[in-house]
Amino acid sequence: MDLHIRPPAALKGEVRPPGDKSISHRAAIIASLAEGHSEISGFLEGEDCLSTVSCLRSLGVELEGPRNGFLRVYGRGLRGFKEPDDVLNAGNSGTTMRLLLGLLAGQPFYSVLTGDASLRRRPMGRVAEPLRSMGAKIYGRRGGEVAPLTVLGGELKPLSYTTPVASAQLKSALLLAGLYAEGETVISEPALSRDHTERLLGFCGAELKRDGLTVFLKGRPRLKPFRLEVPGDISAAAFFLVAGCIHPQAEITIENVGLNPTRSGVLDVLRGMGAEILISREGEKEGEPTGKILVRTSRLRGYNIKGEIIPRLIDEIPVLAVAAAVAEGETVIRDAAELRVKESDRIAALTRELRRLGAHIEPLPDGMIIRGGELHGAEVDSHGDHRLAMALAVAGLVARGETVVRGAECIAISYPDFCRDLASIGGLG
Ligand code: S3P
Repeated sequence: MDLHIRPPAALKGEVRPPGDKSISHRAAIIASLAEGHSEISGFLEGEDCLSTVSCLRSLGVELEGPRNGFLRVYGRGLRGFKEPDDVLNAGNSGTTMRLLLGLLAGQPFYSVLTGDASLRRRPMGRVAEPLRSMGAKIYGRRGGEVAPLTVLGGELKPLSYTTPVASAQLKSALLLAGLYAEGETVISEPALSRDHTERLLGFCGAELKRDGLTVFLKGRPRLKPFRLEVPGDISAAAFFLVAGCIHPQAEITIENVGLNPTRSGVLDVLRGMGAEILISREGEKEGEPTGKILVRTSRLRGYNIKGEIIPRLIDEIPVLAVAAAVAEGETVIRDAAELRVKESDRIAALTRELRRLGAHIEPLPDGMIIRGGELHGAEVDSHGDHRLAMALAVAGLVARGETVVRGAECIAISYPDFCRDLASIGGLG
């Protein structure tokens, strides 16, 4: 599918972003491990979360929905899964594959996990290796580094481990495996990554403590079922935050956004760039803070994005690169080598596509240098990467002439209603 965008006269109105993708995955998985039925509303019906639901079904879990964002899960406790009779397909979803690797490590049966061409290129050894040291047998292509992966799980020993990268998917996989080990699993990370797994496990009654960058989890808990309203996804909201800042006639209200501090780096950076953003905190939903954000046309300046903030905004870098491409002055992004192994190599893909729109951008091994200026319309490609597709659409809102985003169907991976929401504020002709 191609998306045709021309700069609209104004962007005005309200947007309610879809349910948070990270929380939706975790809610479905952790509800499956709980003893009794859980009800989840605001569940993201994007393709990634549907991959998680379908893998859980293949593991014998009964789930109703999702329909209109509502998912009911009949959890059967830690030991309620059955051996799947076919390969589990995680599609494009790294979260599905990595979190399920952790869960499968604790199951006394054989399973195989695969995914689409992009996911089969992404590094899985970082998860498989510590799970092996807990006692699971995991095999895969290139010495167990990439999918398809075979898991022969069983009795696990607790783990004490420092992750080599700040990755919530890795941390979460190890915590899920830690549920199956007798005793305490201790995970440290080099910088704090999103902590939704810890919050939800704690909410379900697991004994879990945090001390700085270290989490301690006591194994073999009995998890309580829950009712959860998934907050809106700040990573989806980010496209409208940037659109609101860079468009010359914009005022957008974004409702019901998750404001977990491990995810809100995009707000800090946009404010640092000079954005006019008003945040009103509304409260907590089952341990996750939420609020409303108002964004208006702003004069953005270049900014340095590096260090510990990177995991707090890693998924927002494509759209922040668009903001940088039209800001005054230079933006330098460093310490973000993880971008090379996301749904696409986002450093290479952004460099190539934003240059087509006239941006001044130099790739670095772990980031980019972007000098702000004016953009012009062009044909650009999504590289099959949902966040790249939406970031390029946002660039199209301020690029002179017409921008055509090729391969925009991948947007359905995380934000199936993106075009509807963009149209509702006047962004699609
Ligand atoms: C996610 C963690 C991040 C993020 C991804 C979702 C999660 O990946 O980029 O989109 O739900 O845990 P890493 O854990 O690889 O950093």
